[in-house]
Amino acid sequence: MERSKIVANALVTGASSGIGLSTARRLAHRGHHVLMLSYDEPELQQACQDLVGQATPVLCDLSQSDQVDGLFARLEGLYGPIEILINNAGIGHHGEVTETSMDTFRRVMEVNYFAPLNLCQQALTAMKERRRGHILNLTSASARRPLARMGAYGSSKAALHGLTQTLRLEAHPYQVRVSEVLPISVTTPFFERASNTSQRLYRPTGFRHSPDQVADMVMRCLDRNIGEYVTHTPTALGLALDALLPNFVSRLLVWSERLTARRNRRD
Ligand SMILES: NC(=O)c1ccc[n+]([C@@H]2O[C@H](COP(=O)([O-])OP(=O)(O)OC[C@H]3O[C@@H](n4cnc5c(N)ncnc54)[C@H](OP(=O)(O)O)[C@@H]3O)[C@@H](O)[C@H]2O)c1
Repeated sequence: MERSKIVANALVTGASSGIGLSTARRLAHRGHHVLMLSYDEPELQQACQDLVGQATPVLCDLSQSDQVDGLFARLEGLYGPIEILINNAGIGHHGEVTETSMDTFRRVMEVNYFAPLNLCQQALTAMKERRRGHILNLTSASARRPLARMGAYGSSKAALHGLTQTLRLEAHPYQVRVSEVLPISVTTPFFERASNTSQRLYRPTGFRHSPDQVADMVMRCLDRNIGEYVTHTPTALGLALDALLPNFVSRLLVWSERLTARRNRRD
């Protein structure tokens, strides 16, 4: 990639794969120095390779809070102010609540909620002082309506969704921007990597975005200071109906779950 003039530092978590990698590439292309965070070293080095001079690998296991504590200040000490934080890293788990261990619930919450919360706290403290900066959290449409077997994942994303709404209001008086992107299924290794304690395959069905499409939406949120971006219009309409008639949508989902179970018994 051709090297551009550095305009600002951006920290992207989960930048070695999928949506995070596509987003890191776009930010680098615009001249940002991208701090690419993930924890699998060979994969991270590989991801940084084509962004020579524009990216720095940051090895960190987000499930270990002692690695996340103070990370933002350490990185700012090394590279200068970080203007953009993209909390993108996330892990999945598929399984009914009764077949999911407390350890799994805690691991998913640690990576998908407590680590981004910790980074948001650190980033917002620094950004408030500078009265500048943008935090963007990747949640999921399931943050607004988790489905069956999404107890661990859906709750972690719902928690991050709630936190992001609060942060947006608290950051606004300091001219710090806070955005959220809520994707539906995306063609990344996410589903293969997810743990699964159910008898069913964890595979996306229906429409899927490419990671590049979601990264474009991330960039749109940064450019236009969009608060919440549901990536798929029919899903956005479904969520609007849900907000208006939650009991009706709930019944529809129970009915659809019963239909799927009956079909599975027949197969
Ligand atoms: N794919 C979808 O259908 C979908 C739908 C809605 C929302 N999302 C959300 O979008 C975000 C990105 O997902 P994706 O589909 O791009 O997934 P992905 O391709 O599996 O990438 C996940 C990234 O997170 C990193 N990561 C995972 N655990 C980590 C840990 N403990 N410490 C540091 N980094 C860690 C991975 O790093 P390593 O390579 O080092 O493991 C990887 O870079 C996630 O928050 C996900 O929940 C995805």
